[in-house]
Amino acid sequence: MSDKIYLTGDRPTGRLHIGHYVGSLKRRVEIQESEDYKKLFIFIADAQALTDNIDNPEKVRQNVIEVALDYLSVGLNPEKSTLFIQSQIPELTELSFYFMDLVTVSRLQRNPTVKTEIHMRGFDASIPVGFFTYPISQAADITAFKATHVPVGEDQKPMLEQTVEIVRRFNYIYGNTLVEPKIVLPQNNACLRLPGTDGKAKMSKSLGNCIYLSEEPKELKQKVMSMYTDPLHIHVEDPGHLEGNSVFTYLDAFCRPEHFAEFWPDYASLDEVKEHYQKGGLGDMKVKKFLNNILQAELEPIRNRRAAFEKDIPAVYEMLRKGTEEARNVAAQTLSEVKRAMKINYFDDAELIAEQSKRFQNP
Ligand code: TRP
Repeated sequence: MSDKIYLTGDRPTGRLHIGHYVGSLKRRVEIQESEDYKKLFIFIADAQALTDNIDNPEKVRQNVIEVALDYLSVGLNPEKSTLFIQSQIPELTELSFYFMDLVTVSRLQRNPTVKTEIHMRGFDASIPVGFFTYPISQAADITAFKATHVPVGEDQKPMLEQTVEIVRRFNYIYGNTLVEPKIVLPQNNACLRLPGTDGKAKMSKSLGNCIYLSEEPKELKQKVMSMYTDPLHIHVEDPGHLEGNSVFTYLDAFCRPEHFAEFWPDYASLDEVKEHYQKGGLGDMKVKKFLNNILQAELEPIRNRRAAFEKDIPAVYEMLRKGTEEARNVAAQTLSEVKRAMKINYFDDAELIAEQSKRFQNP
């Protein structure tokens, strides 16, 4: 049996979109179905979401259930994966507290993800301490479950690097206790980061350039048909460019050979389409229609599954409760090993008590 322990999570700040899907969710389902793992932990990082939404608890609460529904709708199966909610595992907070002593302020300031995110949120002068230190809490998320493999987007690379540093430092000081995780990146290059429908580098709710997994067919079509392409491709005959052309990036991520027979028999492969587009004579509308057909086909089963789960919301919470309970047991076990290694397990260490009493009996 495989001894891989996978772990990954998402902040519940909005419904999940197709960027999450190609970047991570699809891979998780593949892992789940491969059965090449010992454990697959997937969690909703609500405590992390609160680090920059502390005045908006309702938003986080609403999105916990949205994300849970998104998980179930893409085919994550609670029989095979442990789905849980971060904030309900106090051991994670406790672990973070001890990890804080292993990281310097300047190291956190150099974390590129934190740097960009601080800037993006306009926090520059007033960063909440919890937000600033979330890489430490993320290291706790990962190590509490002894994760060996962490499937995440490329933007999370610095988080994993920081986690590895914490693990090494911990093990160096206290002896081998924690496990070094490896990052698992998406395979397809286009999936590393799916741009927004407007051509901006990233899909983001605040930019309004996302296609959600639960998108209705009409909105989906409308979003695809108004996507950013190539501003120099004005007339059909003009040569088109692929770089920075969101429609083609999405095709790279979603198009499969069988889509041609089904939706566009004029072409045999994506390379043929690209060649024609670059030469000139292929209009954006045709390419967008093709992309729309592909996305409609991809999202329909997801939307249908979601609708079925939406009918029994208490069952979704119950599933999360069970997953959380199971995850908590694992985290508690790790924390007890951590405390033993750090020599702060006073009450359950018979050896320590015996040793101390000897020291005071026979000075
Ligand atoms: N920071 C991650 C994100 O924004 C979410 C996350 C929190 C996470 N803890 C994690 C991902 C642990 C992987 C492992 O997407």
